[in-house]
Amino acid sequence: MVCFRTGLTCFCLLFLFFTSIKAIKVIGRDVTVTAGDDAQLFCEAFKTTEPLTTIRWQRRTKKKPTNADFLVVTSSGKEEYINTLRERVKFAGNLAVLDGSIRLGNVTLLDEGIYTCIFSVFPSGPYKTEIRLRVQVPPVVTVGTDVPAVAGDTEGILGTCTAANAKPAAEVLWSLGALNNTVKVQNTVTVDSEDRYTVKSNLIGTASKDLNQKKVQCVVTHPGLKQELELNYTLDIHYPPQVVYISSAGDQGALQCEADANPKPTNFTWSRYFPVKETLSSGVNSSLIVQLTPDSNRPYYCVASNQYGEAVGSFYMHVKTSTESKILWTLFILTLVAVCCFLIWKFELFQRVNKILRRDIGQPVRTESSDH
Ligand SMILES: *[C@@H]1O[C@H](CO)[C@@H](O)[C@H](O)[C@H]1NC(C)=O
Ligand SMILES: *[C@@H]1O[C@H](CO)[C@@H](O)[C@H](O)[C@H]1NC(C)=O
Ligand SMILES: *[C@@H]1O[C@H](CO)[C@@H](O)[C@H](O)[C@H]1NC(C)=O
Ligand SMILES: *[C@@H]1O[C@H](CO)[C@@H](O)[C@H](O)[C@H]1NC(C)=O
Ligand SMILES: *[C@@H]1O[C@H](CO)[C@@H](O)[C@H](O)[C@H]1NC(C)=O
Repeated sequence: MVCFRTGLTCFCLLFLFFTSIKAIKVIGRDVTVTAGDDAQLFCEAFKTTEPLTTIRWQRRTKKKPTNADFLVVTSSGKEEYINTLRERVKFAGNLAVLDGSIRLGNVTLLDEGIYTCIFSVFPSGPYKTEIRLRVQVPPVVTVGTDVPAVAGDTEGILGTCTAANAKPAAEVLWSLGALNNTVKVQNTVTVDSEDRYTVKSNLIGTASKDLNQKKVQCVVTHPGLKQELELNYTLDIHYPPQVVYISSAGDQGALQCEADANPKPTNFTWSRYFPVKETLSSGVNSSLIVQLTPDSNRPYYCVASNQYGEAVGSFYMHVKTSTESKILWTLFILTLVAVCCFLIWKFELFQRVNKILRRDIGQPVRTESSDH
């Protein structure tokens, strides 16, 4: 645009342009890598007619905030690695095309910082650029409860999803399904001296027996994760025994006590009385063997308890004693005999009636008509 005005200005601008390209330009590219991966630090210079003397790399980090050389590559191709980085740094460029790139292996958070790439040409001097290396650390994710929630009236933590030591902070969400309106989510974020964030996401709600075994999902997203993490979690709500069932196993007088409780009852106390007296058995074993006597015909009580409370169930034992069953058998046989006799009698009667009928029908009809 300026060129149209005067030829002189045009000439001046062109002159400036060419001198600036002669003063070479070095370009780099900021990079973000996940801890443990390799970082490719790209650095390139525009073509220059002046001879290259060295490519030098420096860095400064949070721990060492002043620039320090860690690699010098001379025009002859000699690579000089300086200090502790030597095991992990590799020259990945090509002097012929003024490519000064390097590869830094197995990056850690401590490698985060500013990397300076310096091209020295003769005689105009050094030209440099700064590259920022950012390191991201994916979170360590866990889901669970520190202290189990106990059914009750007060609000408490039902579960915690933790995305720890991540950089930057991870995003933690819950997929609550049907519990969407029953529980709330509360997040807390902490950061350590190395800028690593720990996000704790608590599920808050009023613990109840109904929430026990309900399934939820913790969903964690982070740029360092290839895909979002979905962790299943089943709510574990503790509650005292609620309903106690007693079942009779076979006819051997074995009783089995079961209770709806979380955790499972740790103590089953059996008695013929409630409130309990004269304990028959007590402890973790939930079964009871009753010696069958006529005296066994009575209620049996099982008190099941865990650390939160207890509940009782009862069972009425009915034992058929041997004399009782003998009588039953006798009655049964007598009934059978009676039924048989009745049937035989019925059959006989039928035959007899049949015979009489046949004889009557067989008589000539005229005897009757002759009477009239
Ligand atoms: C990467 O670095 C970590 C920590 O410095 C080390 O434990 C691990 O063995 C290294 N891995 C490789 C492949 O060098
Ligand atoms: C959860 O409930 C809110 C309203 O309480 C509703 O806006 C939202 O869509 C629900 N989300 C899911 C996933 O059901
Ligand atoms: C999580 O639960 C869903 C169903 O709710 C199931 O499809 C999925 O396989 C489970 N994932 C794991 C890792 O158990
Ligand atoms: C079980 O409960 C009964 C009655 O409360 C108690 O006497 C007994 O010591 C308990 N047993 C155990 C092993 O805790
Ligand atoms: C529990 O008690 C019953 C009857 O007293 C006994 O037969 C059974 O072996 C016991 N079970 C255990 C695991 O101790």
